[in-house]
Amino acid sequence: MKKPIIPFEEIGEERLHTMIDLFYDKVAVNPHLAPIFPDDLTETRRKQKQFQTQYLGGPNLYTEEHGHPMMRARHMPFPITPTRAQAWLECMAEAMDEVGLDGPLRDTYYKRLVLTANHMINATEEDA
Ligand code: HEM
Repeated sequence: MKKPIIPFEEIGEERLHTMIDLFYDKVAVNPHLAPIFPDDLTETRRKQKQFQTQYLGGPNLYTEEHGHPMMRARHMPFPITPTRAQAWLECMAEAMDEVGLDGPLRDTYYKRLVLTANHMINATEEDA
């Protein structure tokens, strides 16, 4: 039988962590996103590294420490508008570029993130 391809292994832990750090460097200065994030992103970075590891088929680090992800519910305290979802995805696309993530692996990963980000929208532009 063919060995299954695990995106987490294809990307590699070090590159994934670098990508997430670059992503939050952008979030911190993004005019749409910065207002809803804490000033100190240390813990957010740590949790996102755990989450993306399991999202990409690696060990279930997020669930082991924090329980079921319930991502939409965990985002409810923050007004997530279509503009913010778009900004989030743009920060991620830039971070992917900067770590040289390309090809089918990037396409599949990014498409999943688009679906998850859209699912997270919980506010209209007027609510925000
Ligand atoms: C946490 C915003 C999409 C995964 C957060 C937090 C904010 C936020 C404000 C709280 C940060 C903190 O207090 O530490 C957004 C916005 C998004 C978005 C504006 C745009 C659609 C996503 C997506 C994913 C994701 C697509 C996963 C693929 C997470 C994780 C956490 C988090 C894992 C940490 C949850 C926890 O506290 O345990 N997000 N997010 N987010 N977000 Fe998002």
